[in-house]
Amino acid sequence: MKPKTACKIAVDILMTLGLLFLMGYQFWQDAAHEWAGAGMFLLFLLHHVLNGNWYRTLLRGKRSPARVLQLAIDLLVFLAMLGLMASGVILSNHVFGFLHIRGGMGFARLLHMAASYWGFVLMALHLGLHWGMFLGMARKALKFRPSRARQILLSILGACVAAYGIVAFVRRDLLTYMLVRTHFVFFDFREPIPLFYLDYLAMMGTCIWIAYYASQFLRKWAARPKMARRPTSRGTGRPG
Ligand code: HEM
Repeated sequence: MKPKTACKIAVDILMTLGLLFLMGYQFWQDAAHEWAGAGMFLLFLLHHVLNGNWYRTLLRGKRSPARVLQLAIDLLVFLAMLGLMASGVILSNHVFGFLHIRGGMGFARLLHMAASYWGFVLMALHLGLHWGMFLGMARKALKFRPSRARQILLSILGACVAAYGIVAFVRRDLLTYMLVRTHFVFFDFREPIPLFYLDYLAMMGTCIWIAYYASQFLRKWAARPKMARRPTSRGTGRPG
């Protein structure tokens, strides 16, 4: 594997772990959350530098439905990240406390809440759109060629994780926070940490599952053979 590819994968793994850590705000100290948030911002910048090719090809090539979906998700992730960083700096008591920002606390709180849950869903969708690449790499590294039966078993397993993720999404009221139907997040400080992360991993799985199959469908749909043109009543279609 090329060093750049290894770097890209390392950054992606760190960002995924960082995201899970940050979503469990109630379990960790405020200062740890802020430092991890700031680290996430640096990783986000690095992720863009390493994937700079994306910018170079942005306006080139065909705008297939799968590509448009990818662009829309990328743009929304970017906006969520911007919202998280701006509100995080305003709310910060440790890392950016020296800035002594006083105003805009109420708005920053709501923005941070909405952007963190939207960010979580969007980043997982973004991961799902590139899931085929990760599967390919894993297959190559593990020299794994699943039989038809194993493929079906893995698909069923994926569907089960996705279904459980939907249950967790509803039970944890994520939509309420995303749509800012409340001003406060409900934290259960006594909840076992592994159970919290099991639910968040499953919710991530749901988004990956949706994005992966949606992009597969759009690619197949765009590549479908165009309808053969029927001969008109005036001609057979043969050259005269
Ligand atoms: C990807 C980046 C980040 C994610 C996913 C994230 C996620 C969260 C979540 C889920 C909460 C609890 C819900 C809420 O009260 O809003 C929270 C709260 C908080 N975060 Fe972040 N955060 C991120 C970045 C940051 C950064 C960079 C800072 C500051 C340096 C920060 C500072 C805070 C503070 C101070 C709170 C408590 C807010 C309050 O008192 O209402 N976060 N964050």
